[in-house]
Amino acid sequence: MPMDLSEIPALWHEAPRRWGHGLHSLCSYFAMFPAQLAHTMIAWLSQPGDRVYDPFAGRGTVALEAALLGREAFSSDANPLAWVLSTAKTVVPRRSTLLARVTRLEASFRQRTVDTSAVPPEISMLYSPGTLAQLVFLKAELNRDNPTDCFLIATILGMLHANHGKDGATRGFSISMPNTFAMAPGYVERYIRDHGLTRPEVDVFEMLRKRIEKLDLPTEQRASGRAWLQDATATPPEWLRQQPARLVVTSPPYLQVIRYGKYNWVRLWFLGEDWRRVDSQLMASASMDGYVEFMKKVCGQLNEVVTPDGYLCFVIGDVRRPTSEDEGASINLASAVWERVAKPLGWHLHGIIADELPEGQKVSRIWKNNSGRATKVDRLLVMSRTQTELPPLVKPTWTKPSFASETAA
Ligand SMILES: C[S@@+](CC[C@H](N)C(=O)[O-])C[C@H]1O[C@@H](n2cnc3c(N)ncnc32)[C@H](O)[C@@H]1O
Repeated sequence: MPMDLSEIPALWHEAPRRWGHGLHSLCSYFAMFPAQLAHTMIAWLSQPGDRVYDPFAGRGTVALEAALLGREAFSSDANPLAWVLSTAKTVVPRRSTLLARVTRLEASFRQRTVDTSAVPPEISMLYSPGTLAQLVFLKAELNRDNPTDCFLIATILGMLHANHGKDGATRGFSISMPNTFAMAPGYVERYIRDHGLTRPEVDVFEMLRKRIEKLDLPTEQRASGRAWLQDATATPPEWLRQQPARLVVTSPPYLQVIRYGKYNWVRLWFLGEDWRRVDSQLMASASMDGYVEFMKKVCGQLNEVVTPDGYLCFVIGDVRRPTSEDEGASINLASAVWERVAKPLGWHLHGIIADELPEGQKVSRIWKNNSGRATKVDRLLVMSRTQTELPPLVKPTWTKPSFASETAA
């Protein structure tokens, strides 16, 4: 008898609002998964030791939840920002290693004179000269292929733009930015002028140390899998095809809802990447047919990296196609992906579950008062590669996840 999956949303909506490991909030990201949802699906559809893969990894929510649940975590994304953030969730260095690296970097910075003359004005308007010199030094010095450095880069990215409290206190390095993502340079310039903002004098090394002290980190480096840069329509690495994942949990990009590069131009500057080039490499189809073609290629590749008895869970929100007159009808993208993409591949459908996410947690809702093309409804598309039975639903216990308690256990 088919299992009733309609209770899945209630399972994760019951989680405490702020539940989740502190590392999830290392750096914000557009359209991020609620950690509670990733946790529920991974705990239910995989076993400890299984490989869990997210081909649209974003900030690495699935990777971190998979790691905390004792699974092997694999993450790819075509956005270098996502790659760095997912790596930081997958290979977590120990605190003492991070602090020692910050101390060495600081000592080396004190012996140098850093030339900031080549920094574009839209960046230098955000930071005081002293802070900018530190950032330019770290930008050149940190190597994202080294896990310790990569974690430090991810931590810096999370502090590159920040809000200031009423007392002027800042959790980041920049002028008080209007949003956690970067508005267009011209808008920010006007915002600075209109609000008379001054660039804060902050010490990046000191703030990094404070941030690292506060994080829950393991006592030994914890490597739980791999993260890599990859277009989801391209052939996955041989080592993953040789030993496929038991579960894919992912949230593919929607029909042109979000410009991941454009609204991260400050973070991408720090990574030495051009936001236009990043956006040009991400899925950007505005037509349903283009989107379906994209998903056909993605799912064709996923077929090669999921075990025959493995599961695939996609989170796909409904979208609107606004016309000049009205908001337009809402389109059930998840059903279209099932009918036009997954079914023809011979996958098995367990259910498409509508999930009205709790306010503020909608995966595709990013603007406070404007839903853009996204609507209130996300759908969980639960499938398996072949006709495999689902395991019984697992009710999460929502104990607070911690690397410290894990090491002690
Ligand atoms: C909805 S977001 C995923 C967010 C993620 N679940 C999280 O919790 O942060 C979609 C992701 O797809 C990525 N993306 C867009 N086009 C892509 C492509 N062709 N190949 C791989 N990744 C792509 C974007 O960079 C973005 O990170």
